[in-house]
Amino acid sequence: MASTGLVKLNGASSQWMGQQSFNSNGRSSNFITTRRVSMPIRSSSSSYTDELVKTAKTIASPGRGILAIDESNATCGKRLASIGLDNTEGNRQAYRQLLLTTPGLGEYISGSILFEETLYQSTTDGKKFVDCLRDENIVPGIKVDKGLVPLPGSNNESWCQGLDGLASRSAEYYQQGARFAKWRTVVSIPCGPSALAVKEAAWGLARYASISQDNGLVPIVEPEILLDGDHPIERTLEVAERVWSEVFYYLAENNVMFEGILLKPSMVTPGAEHKEKASPETIAKFTLQMLSRRVPPAVPGIMFLSGGQSEMEATLNLNAMNQSPNPWHVSFSYARALQNSVLKTWQGRPWNVEGAQKALLDRAKANSLAQLGKYTAEDESDEAHKGMFVKGYTY
Ligand code: 13P
Repeated sequence: MASTGLVKLNGASSQWMGQQSFNSNGRSSNFITTRRVSMPIRSSSSSYTDELVKTAKTIASPGRGILAIDESNATCGKRLASIGLDNTEGNRQAYRQLLLTTPGLGEYISGSILFEETLYQSTTDGKKFVDCLRDENIVPGIKVDKGLVPLPGSNNESWCQGLDGLASRSAEYYQQGARFAKWRTVVSIPCGPSALAVKEAAWGLARYASISQDNGLVPIVEPEILLDGDHPIERTLEVAERVWSEVFYYLAENNVMFEGILLKPSMVTPGAEHKEKASPETIAKFTLQMLSRRVPPAVPGIMFLSGGQSEMEATLNLNAMNQSPNPWHVSFSYARALQNSVLKTWQGRPWNVEGAQKALLDRAKANSLAQLGKYTAEDESDEAHKGMFVKGYTY
């Protein structure tokens, strides 16, 4: 018997939602049946359930956040080029070694997202990077998506590839020491976003999240709403609410366990080309409004991306969000906003490694304080004020 699902979260696109068909043929007692929809529930005896919850809680621990260094080789090449270095495996290793062997990093960092090359790589002394992280009580993570490609039939939008073979890759990454995963897809406000692009982003994230949990990896769910555009903050809020309602609709439909996921949202800000900038208090107000309207309190951690904000903006905005009580662990999973000053200090010179590691610790500490709502911007460098927005940024 096929039933017609009319379940729709507030704000979800109605054109297609109302016609979704749910087939319950041949399903057994492992299914819960609501009035119109039948769906399976993830078995609570699944071998990874307790571990997933524990991993998510460890990453979402007070005063800590995620160091994202999962740039693809091409994007890492751009970081290296900015300081005049070639994009060789040796230079990528040297840069990641600098970051991952920073003494004391685990005080402020609870997880680090790696690119596949780094997950399997070691320091020049032969110590696996995964072990460097474990020694600091930092959980190793892995970027599992295969990047963005054009989405035919949309308004010049994109979709994220990587589901093929994901289960076996995830099982291998777990063997290698990874305990959480990341999948970044993007939504563009100036391009619409079209109903098709939002639906594709949400469905892809939900399939990925389900496969990750099945293989013991906590999925970071990241529909990045790009900063591109001249729209006001109200428009970003409207799009963010729509995107997150669809993401949670499909996460539920794919029986993803909410206690074992982490979110990586964009902060709700005006478009990068909007005529007025918003204060950290305004950004915090809009972002928390979006979270409280769309995110179930079972989700243990909200780990924001920096998205091209300056290091200081990203820290100040996070701090403002932690001034008022909220049911989640609101923290950071920054790449650019943790790496900019480090790269500028390092310049590829071995004698600058110590200074660059200090720059990383300074930024990590600032964001740790922001996670606790205790950050003040005194003593920040000029570099920390510089924005890093790039139109149509890829990762
Ligand atoms: P930033 O926007 O903080 O550079 O990072 C994006 C990301 O997805 C890193 O994992």
